[in-house]
Amino acid sequence: MKRVITYGTYDLLHYGHINLLRRAKALGDYLIVVLSTDEFNKAMKNKVCVQSYEERKMILEAIRYVDLVIPEENWEQKIHDVQMYQVDTFCIGSDWEGKFDFLKPYCEVVYLPRTEGISTTQRKSSVVQMFEKKTSK
Ligand code: CTP
Repeated sequence: MKRVITYGTYDLLHYGHINLLRRAKALGDYLIVVLSTDEFNKAMKNKVCVQSYEERKMILEAIRYVDLVIPEENWEQKIHDVQMYQVDTFCIGSDWEGKFDFLKPYCEVVYLPRTEGISTTQRKSSVVQMFEKKTSK
């Protein structure tokens, strides 16, 4: 069984995330998503999530491509995760191109092209814009 691992925040899940998860699963048989905790997002990624870790986890677990969701609590855990879960392939979107090549002695490293024109940040700002338009009428 080929095991694949990927990392991310997955707030306000969108079709760019689904595209990533579908292609990640197609790289093997078992997909592990390491989901950034609220604390890690805030402290290390400067991100405040709309959805809590528990909510984001529940949604990811309902996706047919995802087999296991575990927490991402720091930048340093990747080698440990790869070894612990006997991972064959690490993958992530191309916005991280080259950043995780240090995992190459431990597993295959794949950067998947990002889906154009969509992101959580963009979703958040379009909701704010719609709200502002409505309330300024
Ligand atoms: N991703 C993707 N295509 C997109 C958006 C995200 O392939 N359009 C991938 C990322 O490269 C990453 C995973 O989905 O591998 C989770 O990304 P995440 O950072 O949670 O989502 P973003 O939409 O990029 O969030 P933000 O705008 O907060 O950076």
